Amino acid sequence: NLFIPILLYLLLLLLLLLLSLSSFLAVQAENVTVLEGGTAQISCRLQNYDGSIVVIQNPRRQTLFFNGTRALKDDRFQMVLFTPRLVRITLSNVSVSDEGGYFCQLYTDSTHHQVATLSVSVPPETPTVEVKQDAVEGGEVELTCVSPRSKPAATLRWVRGGRELPGVVSQQDNGKTFSVSSTIRIPVERKDNGAALSCEASHPALGGQKRIRHYRLDVYFAPTVKIVPPSAILREGDSLILTCSVTGNPLPRSIQWSRINDTLPERAETSGPTLQISRLSQSHNGTYLCQAQNNYGRAADHYTLLVYVTTTAPPPLTTTPVTSHPATPTLPIFNPGAVVETHSAVPYAVIGGVLALLVFTVICVLIITIWCSVRQKGSYLTHEASGLDEHGEVQEAFLNGNDASQGKKEYLL
Ligand SMILES: *[C@@H]1O[C@H](CO)[C@@H](O)[C@H](O)[C@H]1NC(C)=O
Ligand SMILES: *[C@@H]1O[C@H](CO)[C@@H](O)[C@H](O)[C@H]1NC(C)=O
Ligand SMILES: *[C@@H]1O[C@H](CO)[C@@H](O)[C@H](O)[C@H]1NC(C)=O
Ligand SMILES: *[C@@H]1O[C@H](CO)[C@@H](O)[C@H](O)[C@H]1NC(C)=O
Ligand SMILES: *[C@@H]1O[C@H](CO)[C@@H](O)[C@H](O)[C@H]1NC(C)=O
Repeated sequence: NLFIPILLYLLLLLLLLLLSLSSFLAVQAENVTVLEGGTAQISCRLQNYDGSIVVIQNPRRQTLFFNGTRALKDDRFQMVLFTPRLVRITLSNVSVSDEGGYFCQLYTDSTHHQVATLSVSVPPETPTVEVKQDAVEGGEVELTCVSPRSKPAATLRWVRGGRELPGVVSQQDNGKTFSVSSTIRIPVERKDNGAALSCEASHPALGGQKRIRHYRLDVYFAPTVKIVPPSAILREGDSLILTCSVTGNPLPRSIQWSRINDTLPERAETSGPTLQISRLSQSHNGTYLCQAQNNYGRAADHYTLLVYVTTTAPPPLTTTPVTSHPATPTLPIFNPGAVVETHSAVPYAVIGGVLALLVFTVICVLIITIWCSVRQKGSYLTHEASGLDEHGEVQEAFLNGNDASQGKKEYLL
């Protein structure tokens, strides 16, 4: 007999539970998160709709819609759905000031309403890097990565070569949004010039992606100067070209050439990093200086020029290869570079001399032959020329002109 009251009691409990559940559902906050500038959808669920007026209000309790009729003059709000079960409005171009609870209630029932909480997320833009003062070799540089606006606050991270550099983070609340900055101080050397750093901003609204600002260190340093000397010994008549290789940040804009205790020779031509002196003479002996400077210092390098006397000894014939044009042995060209080489090559000199003699003989023979053939051709030409004058004789010249054709052949040889 006790069974029935217990069952009834349990049924009552279940009913109460269901009731509380349904009342909980009635006030359930439907939270919406949308990106700034995006479109939010705010929905209200209706239960047992009886045709009474549905009122939708913004967080300031201003009525947006009065049973489907727009009440507030804001075109960004649109009613997109109105059924006995669901009312839905959209809000486009959402801004952070639109955040808050949106109310749905029946005009007749002021006790029951639904609140849809709208949250606006502001992802950070690519951060910027601010530099306090120039980075000078041997000093320190202070870099600040700034993300001026985000919601919630973005996380900033300095990275160099895949490794994080710990920064001093500061966060400022600008009402609805946050500005975040991260500052690092790093010592800089010349080798750090051009080093790549980056500042990464991460944010829940970006998912796993990051907004990255790349930054290259610009380290200022005093110049270095180095003269590239000519590789060979210089003699009178040679040309001198000196090149001054200069580094520095900023790169020195001008390079000064000078001669210690003297003026630059008249024939010296300077153009940027090169100094050129043509037709050297012993008066050009001296110490030449290349100097450069920027705001961070100056540097110089020197080169001592010694011009050697041209040797008067006649050049050996070995310098001319046998295969070259036959005219060269008879017109020897003085080559100062070759003088040095021949000192250690006496057997070659002898062989070369013999060969040159041979070539000379061949040329002599050639000249004689050519001279002879020209003479023969000359006689042939006069013969032909006379043939042209008298037409009749031409045929005769061709018919029994045996020696004429021979002359031609020889000439062609
Ligand atoms: C909705 O947002 C409000 C306020 O931010 C919060 O108190 C509530 O717990 C949220 N509800 C859900 C279901 O996330
Ligand atoms: C409110 O709008 C709904 C849907 O359009 C309609 O069915 C209902 O009759 C309206 N109620 C009043 C009081 O006008
Ligand atoms: C969106 O709103 C902002 C201000 O909140 C405004 O400057 C901008 O012009 C709006 N954009 C559009 C497409 O309406
Ligand atoms: C330049 O002259 C000074 C003084 O006359 C002398 O001491 C110095 O050795 C000279 N330098 C060179 C490179 O000739
Ligand atoms: C120039 O240098 C060469 C090589 O040292 C030397 O023989 C010559 O005497 C010098 N000439 C002058 C004018 O100093």
